[in-house]
Amino acid sequence: MSILIRGGTVVTAEQSFRADVYCENGIVAAVEDGFTAPASAEVVDAGGMYVMPGGIDPHTHMELPFMGTVASEDFFTGTSAGAAGGTTTIIDFVIPSPQQSLIEAYKQWRSWGEKAATDYSFHVAVTWWSDQVREEMGVLTREHGVNSFKHFMAYKGAIMVDDGVLLNSFARAQELGALCTVHAENGDAVFHLQKKMLDQGITGPEGHALSRPPQVEGEAAQRAIAIANVLGAPVYIVHVSTEQATQAIARARAAGHRVFGEVLAQQLVIDESVYQHPNWQTAAAYVMSPPFRAKHHQDALWAGLTSGNLQTTATDHCCFCAPQKAAGRDNFTKIPNGTGGIEDRMSVLWHHGVGTGRLTPNEFVRITSTNCAQIFNLHPRKGTVQVGADADLVIWDPEGTRTISAKTHHQNVDFNIYEGMEVKGLARHTLSQGKLVWTDGDLRTVRGAGRYIDRPCFPPVFKAIDLYNDLHKPVGVDREVATAVTP
Ligand code: URP
Ligand code: ZN
Ligand code: ZN
Ligand code: ZN
Repeated sequence: MSILIRGGTVVTAEQSFRADVYCENGIVAAVEDGFTAPASAEVVDAGGMYVMPGGIDPHTHMELPFMGTVASEDFFTGTSAGAAGGTTTIIDFVIPSPQQSLIEAYKQWRSWGEKAATDYSFHVAVTWWSDQVREEMGVLTREHGVNSFKHFMAYKGAIMVDDGVLLNSFARAQELGALCTVHAENGDAVFHLQKKMLDQGITGPEGHALSRPPQVEGEAAQRAIAIANVLGAPVYIVHVSTEQATQAIARARAAGHRVFGEVLAQQLVIDESVYQHPNWQTAAAYVMSPPFRAKHHQDALWAGLTSGNLQTTATDHCCFCAPQKAAGRDNFTKIPNGTGGIEDRMSVLWHHGVGTGRLTPNEFVRITSTNCAQIFNLHPRKGTVQVGADADLVIWDPEGTRTISAKTHHQNVDFNIYEGMEVKGLARHTLSQGKLVWTDGDLRTVRGAGRYIDRPCFPPVFKAIDLYNDLHKPVGVDREVATAVTP
């Protein structure tokens, strides 16, 4: 099983250069201009195209049981749609119910994940605290390749955790060399504002955005960062959607703290006006948390990517069809939160990023793949094009155009948040484990072909943090026992 990708320009986070890429047994075996491959190798013509590491989406929720229903996209359909858009790895979330064993939930999600068509991995959420949770975090890191834990500061009465849980969990993760991530929204404030909106008779999807204003996110992001800093721990803020949260991250980074931020492709290009749509079903289709924002936040998010203060881009792919969204017909707080977009992330970011001069092609690779691989310790197996890396690649056609639509997408959901958007730049071919899974519009993914990817703890930055913390350990004052206390 070998493939030669011939005549393309290899684009990594660091450089662009002409080279053929030869893949054998699922691994990149050669990156060399004019490479002579065995005659048996399948040849893919990449003339005029870019050969880049496949996209890594660090934030998806395939078949998530959530708000009384289950996300419509499963691990097979979701990773297949991702492949059609050039994404070859996802990191999904195990979300135990409060009081549920983390290991039990992890095993449940592993069994669901078995149908994935491309490689996948899991963050595990800490939704409650006890000695058992503390113990199980250790088991997950030692025996199950988990190196990141998720915390929801929102969803009060369900999976929200308070500062005490954050402190316990962050400290434990720090011991284990695992990264803590947070959904930063002040859940008490959201709860209060939801009630206020309903009391005022606002029951439609616009109430969703009104009950989650930017300050709600800014406060929580700032608090999570402060708690992490108290412990000397790194922290990763998922789906940063506001200027306030971006600034909190930028301030912390400027002060030398290891804080990372993720932005969703949709938050960069869609604004809050969607909640004013006269059609309830359309407005409800955009209900996600945090909500879409006023336009000026988009500028802050783009600037966050350009400056390097935000490092990764994701989708938070969490699909619910219209009949599922309809559960909140009379009360916006009951609309299942989530939007899709795994198939479109790469095209949207290329078109609106590279196509507008906000990103270079190398920066595009960095924010769609490499940074994620480095932060979550998948690098250099994933996130780059080099000998020995997994042959998860996308052959990107910078001139190709398409119009995004639910009528033609491969996502298992009846709505596309980018409906009608014309984008230039698309995945012409996608390779997963050295096999063509998407080629010229032909989706060839295989149910169950994806592998669970272990992610070891203590990525390099943790070793540095540990050393730094060790050298700055607090020390008590050594007083003479006999010192008299003066009255
Ligand atoms: O609305 C969203 N984002 N749904 C998925 C769960 C989460 O908060 O990430
Ligand atoms: Zn979230
Ligand atoms: Zn502002
Ligand atoms: Zn999410």
